[in-house]
Amino acid sequence: MTHKPPGPKGDFIWGHTRLYRHDPLTFERTLAREYGDVVALRFGLRRAVLITHPDDIHKVLVAEADKFCKSAVYRELLSRVLGNGLLTSDGEFWQRQRKLVQPAFHHKRIQAYGAVMTEQAAQMLETWRPGEVRPLNRDMMRLTLGIVCKTLFGADVSGDADRVAMALTAVLELVDVALEAPFFLPEWWPSPRRQQQRAVRQILDEVVYGFIRRRRETGDTGDLLSMLLAARGEAGDRMSDRQVRDEAVTLVLAGHETTANALTWTFILLAQSPEAEAHLHAELDIVLAGRLPAVEDLRRLEYTTLVIKESLRLYPPAPTIEREALVDVELGGYRIPKGTIVVIPVHVVHHDARWFPDPEKFDPLRFTKDKEVARPKFAYFPFGGGPRICIGNSFAEMEANLLLAAIAQRYRLRLADSTPIIPKATITLRPSSDVRMRLEARSMTSAAETLNGANAQYRVPSG
Ligand code: HEM
Repeated sequence: MTHKPPGPKGDFIWGHTRLYRHDPLTFERTLAREYGDVVALRFGLRRAVLITHPDDIHKVLVAEADKFCKSAVYRELLSRVLGNGLLTSDGEFWQRQRKLVQPAFHHKRIQAYGAVMTEQAAQMLETWRPGEVRPLNRDMMRLTLGIVCKTLFGADVSGDADRVAMALTAVLELVDVALEAPFFLPEWWPSPRRQQQRAVRQILDEVVYGFIRRRRETGDTGDLLSMLLAARGEAGDRMSDRQVRDEAVTLVLAGHETTANALTWTFILLAQSPEAEAHLHAELDIVLAGRLPAVEDLRRLEYTTLVIKESLRLYPPAPTIEREALVDVELGGYRIPKGTIVVIPVHVVHHDARWFPDPEKFDPLRFTKDKEVARPKFAYFPFGGGPRICIGNSFAEMEANLLLAAIAQRYRLRLADSTPIIPKATITLRPSSDVRMRLEARSMTSAAETLNGANAQYRVPSG
């Protein structure tokens, strides 16, 4: 076993922190290209490795998952606002909480959420007018926020949506700013950012404690909030309101921004890929014939699901996963000492030509069954994997497919500006500025007629 993986020489004091934080997407891609599947880095005094081979990723996330914990950087920064919820907790505490929250994501329950998803999409579409230019990223954010609050907490946030959305965006911006700084200031450090952090917490607390108060008044309605409030630990103890708040805020944050970004990138990609767009429209017209989509339709909306998969490949909404080694481990033939931060750049692996030839091309047909089984499992993992796999993965897939179908059935979205849309990667991968799109109303028949032979290997189902 070789001792140290190859890697670039870093700054004497900061190591690679500044380069990494400044533009992680470019830095990670360059590292993988120049140094291979395991690259040694240093963040200040902390050793780190970047890993990009599916076998090593499988080892960290699945086979030897118990030898790793979440990395301190994300855990500490996020927990300043999210508290101790599923995303930031670890060990036995995390295990107990995951068991408590998991039932809200069981297959049967998720099926029932489908109606809320399309209902909320229909409400949004009522407010759209053909010909207008809209900030799609904001519309998607408001829509997915409404859906996560309604499905999991039975709460209608339409009155509070903008305030909550602003607070949640501020959470991510605070984390961005902290990540871009060469070192982390402790939480008690007096700074304007600390005040902002407190203001954000206050808005989220007001709204979420409001959900909790109302659910206490109405009693058990069978939603996630009722389950969290009723749950008892082994000693018969209940979760404190504070813990319920932390789980709720975590789910609201993790459950809306990611899916909203996925949909925004999907519409950008479709606007730039007329063949794929025509194929999608044809499928929607044939399968739905003008109806709003329902969960039962998803089975037949095959091309729609391929479009979402390919969009999650090109723009994985959670672009990087991080862990910290709890003991010495071996990765790619190198000994990785205890305490090393392991960086898994999902977006680099998703753009690797070994698994995805012509990787920058948007090609939904990469995800037909035969092609999927030919790739290693961890060549594509937008939802992570192993015990800490995204708890909302089926929820998100269903939501993304239903919303894409509901919107694309009615509108063709065109980019209103010619300036390129630059992705910004921190905790999530989002457009660095508003995505203004023009709404063109569609007529049903034209799409089926324009379907050409380019995608003929994939058959549109008959009505
Ligand atoms: C396209 C949408 C989504 C993507 C790409 C995504 C991605 C991810 C990834 C990669 C992780 C694992 C992070 C790690 O291993 O460190 C994760 C965890 C998590 N996600 Fe998602 N997610 C999405 C949607 C959702 C939704 C809709 C919810 C909830 C309603 C959700 C809730 C969570 C939670 C609570 C965790 C932490 C799970 C744990 O550690 O036990 N996510 N997500």
